[in-house]
Amino acid sequence: MENVFNKICEYAESIFTCRSELHGPAHWRRVDINAQLLTEHSGADIIVVRLFAYLHDSCRLDDGRDHMHGPRAANNLPDLPESFITISSTQMQLLEYAIRHHTDGITSDDPTIGTCWDADRLDLGRVGITPIAERMSTQAGKDLCFQ
Ligand SMILES: [Fe+2]
Ligand SMILES: [Fe+2]
Repeated sequence: MENVFNKICEYAESIFTCRSELHGPAHWRRVDINAQLLTEHSGADIIVVRLFAYLHDSCRLDDGRDHMHGPRAANNLPDLPESFITISSTQMQLLEYAIRHHTDGITSDDPTIGTCWDADRLDLGRVGITPIAERMSTQAGKDLCFQ
């Protein structure tokens, strides 16, 4: 399975024009680790949250707000080579929603969508923002915040 996610990461790097340190592959790998940790408690779909980790910021154009980078990456999902991984239509819907709306600042009661967003927000320290419990969707995410 690691080979699959390495390929997905390489694919994301190949379409990532922003070359950002803040929102690039190192961030994606930390989100993946966060997602795997959270999933042990949240009951998320592990495939969806790991795909989210590598794809959610792949269409950023810069390190600014670039509020449309979520929708752009969601619109790009049909271009993901099918030979990499096969997921169900339900998994694709969850992934599409999580990526499209990850910049909207909202939370979700869905364990998979919530885990995606918490995994991303738990890495906010890299841009000088302390993750806070009230912005987390899952109990596991809240438990990892110090305020
Ligand atoms: Fe993002
Ligand atoms: Fe991110």
